[in-house]
Amino acid sequence: MAELKLSESRDLTRIERVGAHSHIRGLGLDSSLEPRAVSDGMVGQTAARKAAGVILQMIKDGKIAGRAVLLAGQPGTGKTAIAMGMAKSLGLETPFAMIAASEIFSLEMSKTEALTQAFRKAIGVRIKEEAEVIEGEVVEVQIDRPAVSGAAAKTGKLTLKTTEMETVYDLGAKMIEALGKEKVSSGDVIAIDKASGKITKLGRSFSRSRDFDAMGPQVKFVQCPDGELQKRKEVVHCVTLHEIDVINSRTQGFLALFTGDTGEIRAEVREQIDTKVAEWREEGKAEIVPGVLFIDEVHMLDIECFSFLNRALENDMAPILVVATNRGITTIRGTNYKSPHGIPIDLLDRLLIISTQPYTEDEIRKILDIRCQEEDVDMSEGAKCLLTKIGVETSLRYAIHLITAAALACQKQKGKTVELDDINRVYNLFLDVKRSTQYLMEYQSQYMFNETGEADEDEANAMVS
Ligand SMILES: Nc1ncnc2c1ncn2[C@@H]1O[C@H](COP(=O)(O)OP(=O)(O)OP(=O)(O)O)[C@@H](O)[C@H]1O
Ligand SMILES: [Mg+2]
Repeated sequence: MAELKLSESRDLTRIERVGAHSHIRGLGLDSSLEPRAVSDGMVGQTAARKAAGVILQMIKDGKIAGRAVLLAGQPGTGKTAIAMGMAKSLGLETPFAMIAASEIFSLEMSKTEALTQAFRKAIGVRIKEEAEVIEGEVVEVQIDRPAVSGAAAKTGKLTLKTTEMETVYDLGAKMIEALGKEKVSSGDVIAIDKASGKITKLGRSFSRSRDFDAMGPQVKFVQCPDGELQKRKEVVHCVTLHEIDVINSRTQGFLALFTGDTGEIRAEVREQIDTKVAEWREEGKAEIVPGVLFIDEVHMLDIECFSFLNRALENDMAPILVVATNRGITTIRGTNYKSPHGIPIDLLDRLLIISTQPYTEDEIRKILDIRCQEEDVDMSEGAKCLLTKIGVETSLRYAIHLITAAALACQKQKGKTVELDDINRVYNLFLDVKRSTQYLMEYQSQYMFNETGEADEDEANAMVS
């Protein structure tokens, strides 16, 4: 890669469900890390985005271990959104592990084990391997089916060629199955890994480019390979340390990765793996790719976890830690002491703090525009203005949530474009926090457990500037 592109984003398929952050496709920075006003689904919050970009650069360089960043700001100012943007701008190869702090409290696993697993999910290992492959253009696949099914295994022949040679290979049942699965036909250029028998389709040969009309534009055309059919090739696998841990700690192996039922992993297993990886690094077979661990709602961690983090960050294989919180000065969980953001001072001292600011009316308008597009909702100019006003008066989240509701109300009225009336209707149908509280104040005697005058502790702790 000649030039570092930070806002390079991954392709999003349209099949994905529209989630709270699905409009975020990156951080929206240009190559000199300057934030564009509206880009990659991101609006405003320029200082924080720029700071996140600098951190991202640090991650991409991969040299610095164990740095930590705190995203702090009021609810709904885009902390989680910025973290998602960071995740999207990192390449597929850099691991990004994301957890909410409350996830680590479970009966199955100790808190520190859960945190260790999260840390190791954020450290990638690039393993280089020399593999023997057979690479060529398929001339012919010929499969003999026995007359009576099941009487004998299928056999067949595969003819492969390069620009210089042509060879016929005998096929067993397994290879026939693999060829069928990949839908290999003559004219394809394929690679077969000799050790595992895995078949990869590299594309169609250029000599078959006249098939183009029949195959459509998604087919990739490649040159027929030259030289010998058998080659040595360098293959690169990217796995995380956590994946290596799981595979080695279980008798049933990698299946635990899918069920998530990994249990606690013994320290000896981890030690062995660390030594092995260190050996590979020395031999030049493997490289460590430090990624990002994002812990959302970090004030939910308790004092033990915080001191664990202090230590874990000092490991030279540590990933970059990004944490987010919306708390002000509040008690540290597990103690009676108060601290800014509910994080002990010694950890705070190790954090670079990025603060997010509330949005202006104009920015709210732009975010709502983007969300309307994302949710495929047509909205009239007036309705958007009203929704922006609502966003300013109540909260950005409430306004975002009204979009879909208003679109449904509009559909009910057989309308195509969401109008002022639809917004009005849903505004009266669904209360925002302010109106709901007002309602509670008026009718509190009719509810259970009401405590007059005293605000909820959590409410009071949420950061309000
Ligand atoms: N700068 C932005 N550009 C585009 N969309 C944004 C931006 N900031 C926030 N959003 C969207 O607004 C909504 C609320 O933001 P988000 O969830 O990131 O807030 P938060 O700071 O994490 O709040 P909390 O402290 O409550 O967790 C999300 O749907 C998010 O995608
Ligand atoms: Mg959040």
